[in-house]
Amino acid sequence: MTSGVQPIRGMNDVLPADIGLWQHLEATLRELVAMYGYDEIRVPVVEHTELFKRSIGEYTDIVEKEMYTFSDQGGDSLTLRPEATAGIARAAISNGLLRGQKHKLWCIGPMFRHERPQKGRYRQFHQFDVEALGYEGPDVDAEMIVMIGRLWRMLGVTRVRLQVNSLGTPASRAAYREELVRYFRGHEAALDADSRRRLGGNPLRILDSKNPDMQAIVAGAPLILDHLDPESRAHFAALKSALRATGIDYTVNPRLVRGLDYYSRTVFEWTTDALGAQDAVCSGGRYDGLIAQLGGESTPAIGFAMGIERVVELLRGAGVVPVARAPDVYIVAPGERAAAAGLALAERLREALPQRRIAFGLGGGNFKAQFRRADRSGARLALVLGDSEMDRGVVAIKHLRRDAEQIECPVAEAHARLAAVLEE
Ligand code: HAM
Repeated sequence: MTSGVQPIRGMNDVLPADIGLWQHLEATLRELVAMYGYDEIRVPVVEHTELFKRSIGEYTDIVEKEMYTFSDQGGDSLTLRPEATAGIARAAISNGLLRGQKHKLWCIGPMFRHERPQKGRYRQFHQFDVEALGYEGPDVDAEMIVMIGRLWRMLGVTRVRLQVNSLGTPASRAAYREELVRYFRGHEAALDADSRRRLGGNPLRILDSKNPDMQAIVAGAPLILDHLDPESRAHFAALKSALRATGIDYTVNPRLVRGLDYYSRTVFEWTTDALGAQDAVCSGGRYDGLIAQLGGESTPAIGFAMGIERVVELLRGAGVVPVARAPDVYIVAPGERAAAAGLALAERLREALPQRRIAFGLGGGNFKAQFRRADRSGARLALVLGDSEMDRGVVAIKHLRRDAEQIECPVAEAHARLAAVLEE
């Protein structure tokens, strides 16, 4: 293969065989957000690089090493969005959507991160993203989590569990951070290279370390939940009691810190044991400071994003079978005269039976060849129009999936007969 037609590593095609699962998931997501009163928003796939640096944070993995950044012809530094929250916050500010108003928004689309590709982790991946702007919570925090719980039920997904934590306010987090740095400095010799690097910029991320050698040190680290300010503590308590009241199972994970810097108070993550190392299927949290930090008026907000590829994998694992896309009727019309009449007939049938999938035997060929294609298409019925049918002004309807008598009817009645046979 020449390099021009090689796919980019970590960027996938979604082929027709898989699209049914994607569409099933997307349709269910749309149904879900409608139930909860969220409106769709569509924002660009590229933004100024600065936006992501300022919102996600300079010392995060995403900004340090995963962004697809380039200069455009005008010399501006642009970045393919690695996530949707920053762009939506930007859109709310630049379109004057705030001014004390509230917005419940969602979007779906591709995101880009230059990570090491593996199962469930891609360089172009898709997120379903939901954001509630202007809501202080904790009621909306709880409702959002309950909404995701409902989605799992609607989809029949069971192998997911929820972890929650609170990161407090920027002030309480700063105090905690100092204490954490003090603790890790006391164990600096035992830290791995990654953690030593994080100590200066983003020490909370050390808590997220996957290195088994680090587990003992991490286990002894001070906990953020012991350092919450009173309001954040009350917020978290109210969230937990709302979750209990709605019957959602959760675990408090005091080491859940998230990989983006904009969070405050509530953070949460749904993980699964069904996908191997890439176990996070849906993650989010509150970001009360972000909009002000980007220059908008101070607006509390919370949101989450779900990895579509990962949920599609869960659906496949749970045995969800996409709706069959086979045609209902395949028109077999060999010979020039019949082919021309058949093409026109196919159009009339599509007009009369818009809910049905009508395939016309494109590419010609004799009876045998066309029947073979009709059979391979998975169609239920063949509508046969040969020279003999043409001469008599009739069509034949033949079952392809079961033994049954062939029917003949006048061409003008074809749509009515087909409708009746397909209803059987
Ligand atoms: P995130 O945790 O970076 O959060 O990503 C959210 C979800 O996207 C993950 O839980 C995972 O399912 C999926 N995901 C992330 N990276 C990849 C990848 N390389 N390949 C496949 N799936 C991936 C955010 O992006 C925040 N913007 C979420 C949020 C919204 N917080 C508030 N509002």
